[in-house]
Amino acid sequence: MKNSLMLVLSILVLSACGEQKQQSAVAMPDAFSADVAKQIMQDGGNAVDAAIAAQFVLAVTLPEAGNIGGGGFMLVYKDQQADFIDYREQAPLAAHRDMYLDEQGNVVPYQSVIGILSSGVPGTVAGMWLAHEKYGTLPWKDLVEPAVKLAADGFVMSEKLAGYISRYSQHLKDNKFAVNFDDYFASAKTGDVFRQPELAATLALIRDQGRDGFYKGKTAKIIANFMAHHQGLISEDDLAQYEAKSRQPISAKWREYQVLTSPPPSSGGIAIIQWLTMYDQLTAGKAKLEHNSAPYVHVLAEAGKRVFADRAEYLGDPDFIKVPVAELINPDYIAKRGADISMDRISVTELIKPGLKESEETTHFSIVDKWGNAVSNTTTINLGFGSGVVVEGAGFLLNDEMDDFSAKPGVANVFGAVGGEANEIQPKKRMLSSMTPTIVLKDGKVSVVTGSPGGTTIISSVYTSILNTLEFGMSAQEAVDAPRFHHQLLPKDTIRYHQGLTPDVVSALKKMGYIMDNSRFGDLHTIVDRDGKLEAGSESSGRGKSIVF
Ligand code: DON
Repeated sequence: MKNSLMLVLSILVLSACGEQKQQSAVAMPDAFSADVAKQIMQDGGNAVDAAIAAQFVLAVTLPEAGNIGGGGFMLVYKDQQADFIDYREQAPLAAHRDMYLDEQGNVVPYQSVIGILSSGVPGTVAGMWLAHEKYGTLPWKDLVEPAVKLAADGFVMSEKLAGYISRYSQHLKDNKFAVNFDDYFASAKTGDVFRQPELAATLALIRDQGRDGFYKGKTAKIIANFMAHHQGLISEDDLAQYEAKSRQPISAKWREYQVLTSPPPSSGGIAIIQWLTMYDQLTAGKAKLEHNSAPYVHVLAEAGKRVFADRAEYLGDPDFIKVPVAELINPDYIAKRGADISMDRISVTELIKPGLKESEETTHFSIVDKWGNAVSNTTTINLGFGSGVVVEGAGFLLNDEMDDFSAKPGVANVFGAVGGEANEIQPKKRMLSSMTPTIVLKDGKVSVVTGSPGGTTIISSVYTSILNTLEFGMSAQEAVDAPRFHHQLLPKDTIRYHQGLTPDVVSALKKMGYIMDNSRFGDLHTIVDRDGKLEAGSESSGRGKSIVF
């Protein structure tokens, strides 16, 4: 009797544990992608299957950032192995270093962010194809089909998206580089069903032919002819030669965690490791700083100055330049970088040099499946709606990622980031990114999956979400909604911050000499495993949706 009671009890305990392990979660930038990702996993797919399906859905329902005409990074943690799929755009074969300079050698305003010359060769379809070849379990066509349907049958246009579209259309008005955005999007009205038949046909080719449905044959011809017609650079050769690459993720120990994050051509992984490590070094042995207090903001802003000085000098496409990754994330090096930080004084921007030698739109989603595998995926066409150019006949928006190169040494790009030789334009080179999909492990198990859009501010959003969940114990939702801040060396002493830092903190920072710029950035989508139970949070200010099931 006693024995059978024990047996029943242990079965109950085991099945309770089993159920906990079987939880899945998605934290997505809109409801369409959240529902499709959940459905794919309920149909037996894993996190990578769900990610692929979501990526294609976002190309339809989140046109400002979701895409097949852009690129991104997918960090995968599957069966205890980490992999980083780099599907970043690359410069066309005909691109050259000075392509955005006028005869006087000045950068031509807008040319790298709007219109035909601003696009890199898209990487998304190749990235999803590679992810599927390596990790997919459901048939490819089942993963693309939900997007085909949404493009063909349409979806109900939300007020937020309609507003965004009309503001972008205003922004393009009278810009000499604008091509055809209104032809495709001017009809989008709140509450109406928005259909995209050309995009549906392109997605159907991708569904039926895989990556060749984009990089070869009909779609490739349409893209190349469209480019030639408008004096653009992307050719059939560019498309045929594009390859997504699998790279070794950055893996660094931080406290009792293993942080898996984005290697070059992302700057983000190196940056968050430097930032988190410097934070620990500067606060070691001292009373814990209060979340979002003036000293907390100051310490992290000082770290940011040094992080961004290194970024500008050393980081670029590792297939073109040697990036000293190990040196940059070495704790001794980071300690040296932080050694002159004072807790009460701002350091002088001009004196912060690289250390080794003597809105915008992107979107992110996080997924955990019932097997404990995780995907952290950030994807972009750079600014909202990319170049604003739709490939006629194929129905998708092209990126304006070329602006992420350094058009001229020392001249800031749209995110205020400067760079030099390491990130100059060369054919087939990938432009430096700040996208930082990240997975934090504890004892080999997923602890946090996180990422955000926001250009260079992505890096701050990502490390903040790690500190909020692991240092301050916030729930996933609290962590993504807590006000945050960002400093990146230039503009000088300027801290961008969300509404919600207290007036006292803002005035204390102003007194120290900071210029305080109140403007929102980022859209975090974060999943946290809290003692075996999943939590998921998507920022309340966006269109996101997260589900634990
Ligand atoms: O790769 C990058 O760093 C940028 N192209 C990302 C752009 C972005 O996040 C814009 N979003 N708000």
